[in-house]
Parts: sequence; structure tokens; C-alpha cells
Amino acid sequence: MKSYIIQGGNALNGEVNISGSKNASLPIIASSILNGDITRLYNVPKIHDTQITLEILKILGCKIRVNSGKIEINSKNINKIEIPEDLMRQMRSTVVLAGAILGRFKEVKFSYPGGCEIGARPIDLHLAAFRKLGIEVEENCGFIHCKCDKIVGTNINLDFPSVGATENIILATVLAEGTTVINNAAMEPEIVDLANCLTKMGAKIYGAGTNSIKIIGVEKLKGAGYKVMPDRIEAGTFLCAAAVTSGNVKVNNIVISDLIPVIHKLEEAGCKIYEGKNYIQIRGPKKLKAIEIKTMPYPGFPTDLQQIFGAMLTTAKGTSVIIENIFENRYKYTSELVRLGAKITVEGKMAVIEGKRKITGATVKSYDLRGGAALVIAALAVKGKTKIDNIEYIFRGYENFDQKLKGLGANIKKVGD
Ligand code: UD1
Repeated sequence: MKSYIIQGGNALNGEVNISGSKNASLPIIASSILNGDITRLYNVPKIHDTQITLEILKILGCKIRVNSGKIEINSKNINKIEIPEDLMRQMRSTVVLAGAILGRFKEVKFSYPGGCEIGARPIDLHLAAFRKLGIEVEENCGFIHCKCDKIVGTNINLDFPSVGATENIILATVLAEGTTVINNAAMEPEIVDLANCLTKMGAKIYGAGTNSIKIIGVEKLKGAGYKVMPDRIEAGTFLCAAAVTSGNVKVNNIVISDLIPVIHKLEEAGCKIYEGKNYIQIRGPKKLKAIEIKTMPYPGFPTDLQQIFGAMLTTAKGTSVIIENIFENRYKYTSELVRLGAKITVEGKMAVIEGKRKITGATVKSYDLRGGAALVIAALAVKGKTKIDNIEYIFRGYENFDQKLKGLGANIKKVGD
């Protein structure tokens, strides 16, 4: 087990470069399965989740070359349609590999995916959509076998705008016969990034970024080069790190429009924000103000920043209220914040944070990716020492997290085997 030891209290200052998006990279890596050709990807972050996805592609038969920021995937000789169970269980987003394998080979075998413990996270919407596309789906003791002779486009109405289900349907239908329309589709920027990458390969996808996406099946896709979008969640995390330490930080390599709900909330909390072309300069106030947050599908406030903001608000003046509408179990981190002296009560979807003037150091534990990063945010504000255990969760989604924070003046050390 690895841990961070953080001596908090330093105001963060300087510039930080944001890496490529984790949540866009995973379906985009999966999309390389579809063309049976060479895909060159740029700006893929070197984090645990992208490494596992590439590992699975290798096992399926892809040839992968990585050099100086470029990943080249040759999917010509894929000779397996089964995703290994141990890797499948490491993270939830492996489920989008199923759509890509189905799209190309019309058959896939996989087990229920794993991932962070932030709720039940079923995949019923994915499987219902596959069935609607004429795919036979057999579920047996946690294993799933999907098979069909051909995939035929149709209208699919999602009960909820699931990000993963929208991506899976796109991946499964770009090579289908006829036209597929996804209604109540997720509108997240990562969906647009996936559609842009597939379009470069020759796919015909219209309306990505809106709630109705039309996919006109094509016979074949070709190789392509694509640069993955910046990680808006990593950007939000560094903005909060600056805010909570009354720092002054320039956050580079971002897409401002993807961060609008986040910027509004930081301004409401008293931060001064200057927006450049592809950067934000943030100045945290001496004392943050309490705010209210409701997580919603995009363009609402992102659930992936709920925990990060929750940690930031523990030191704000007044009482903040958070309503988590996307995942039912995304408040585990609050009990760790309480160990640091925060005053938080959780009831169902709602967390009430009574801002405390001072939180103090202690030993705490990460339970999931963003919850772990949230503890780092809180520890940066503590005038004292905090030890955060189980930081392997954080490595799943943040590239060089501690080095980037160190570059801004944080006193953070990684320890453990
Ligand atoms: C993606 C993101 C994750 C983010 C989430 C919501 C990736 C790799 N992960 O996850 O970081 O927090 O979007 O923005 O991109 N649901 C069902 N049945 C399904 C599918 C989803 O009930 O078949 C529920 C989930 O349990 C959850 C909600 O719908 O409560 C949202 O899930 P979804 O949008 O699918 O999130 P993910 O794609 O898993």
C-alpha cells in the first residue's frame, strides 16, 4: 500500500499543465478495435486505467507501440473476443470494450465490470440497448455472452442519459446496417471526443453533444490519428487545490466551455477567475464562502467533482449543501473528512457541510478515485500533517498528481512499497 504524507498550509502558486482526459481516452482506445487498422493516439494520460485498457487490447491481439506521447494501436490481428475477467473487474469503463468488440466481430464475452465502490452501478441500460439492436445477450453467473449475425440500426431511448451506455451504443453501431438514433443520450464532452475520433476513422455520427445522436452505419473504418481532449475533472481538481489554499494558479491546456458549471461555483465561493484562450488563472480568497451544489448530467455540475468540492468546502465560511443525484454512494469520503475535524452530516442524497475555521491532520484512507483526491485537497488546507492511505485509487485517474502539486509548492511525499 502506498500513502501520501502532506504537510498542508502552503498557498499553491504557479502553473500546472492538465493531462489528456481519462474518461475520453478509455472509449477512444476501445474505438481502435473497430478499424482493424492503425490508430495513433496523442495526449492519452499515463494512468492505471488507460494502462489496463491497453493491456486488454494486447491480450485481444492488438500490437501496441508507445513512444514520446504517442500510442500506436494496430488492431488488424485481433484473435480473441473475450475480455479477461481479472482485468475486466479492475474498472467499470472496461464495459465499453464490449460495444467495440461487438461492433467489429458481432460477438463478445465478458464479466460484470468492477471499479470504484460509489454505488450499485449496474449495466442494464447497456444490455437493454444491445438487445434492442438485435443482439442476443445471455447472462450466466456474472458472465455475459453477446452474439448476433448482424447489428441492425434502430431507435434507442435511454431511461437515463448514461455516459457509458451512450458510448457503448455508438461503438456497437458505427459499423451496423442502417441508422441508429439514441434519444436521451448523454451530452458529456467526452462523448463528443469519441464521436470526433470515430468520424476521423470514417464513421458517420451526428448530434454528439446533444441529447439525440444519429449514427449511420458504414461498411468499414480506417486508421486515423487523434489527440484526446484535456481532462476537465483534473482541471477542476487543481482549481479547487488553488482555491482551498488561497493560492494563485494558472491551469493550462483546458477547454473553458467544458468547465462552465465548475467556474460558476468557484466564483460563487469567492474565487477570482480570469479566463484565457485555453487556460484559467484562479485566485482563491482568504476565506471561501459556503455554496450549494447539485450534481447533474452534463451540462450540469459533474458528479466527479462533487467530492473535490465537498473537501474544499469544509473550510468555507457558512453551511454548504450538496445534493448528489448521479451515484447513491459517493459520500464515503465524508467520514474521512470528519476524522480531519470537518463537520459534515449525510442523509440520503444530501450532505450538509458546516464550514469550520480549522481542520487538523490525521491518518485517513481513500475509498475511491475522486474521494482519494478529495482527501488530498482537504490535507492541503490543514496546517499540519495528514497521511492518506490507499492512494492507489488516485493513480487510477491522475497523472503525476503529487509531482504536479509539488510544482505548485505543495509539501507532498509519496511513501510505501
Ligand atoms: C461515467 C464516468 C464517470 C462519471 C459518470 C457520470 C467514465 C469512464 N466514467 O461513468 O467518471 O462519474 O460517467 O458522469 O467515463 N446506470 C444504470 N444502469 C446502466 C448505466 C448506468 O443504472 O446501465 C446508472 C449508474 O449506476 C449511475 C448513473 O446511471 O447511477 C450514471 O452512470 P453512467 O452515466 O453510466 O456513468 P459511467 O458511464 O459508469
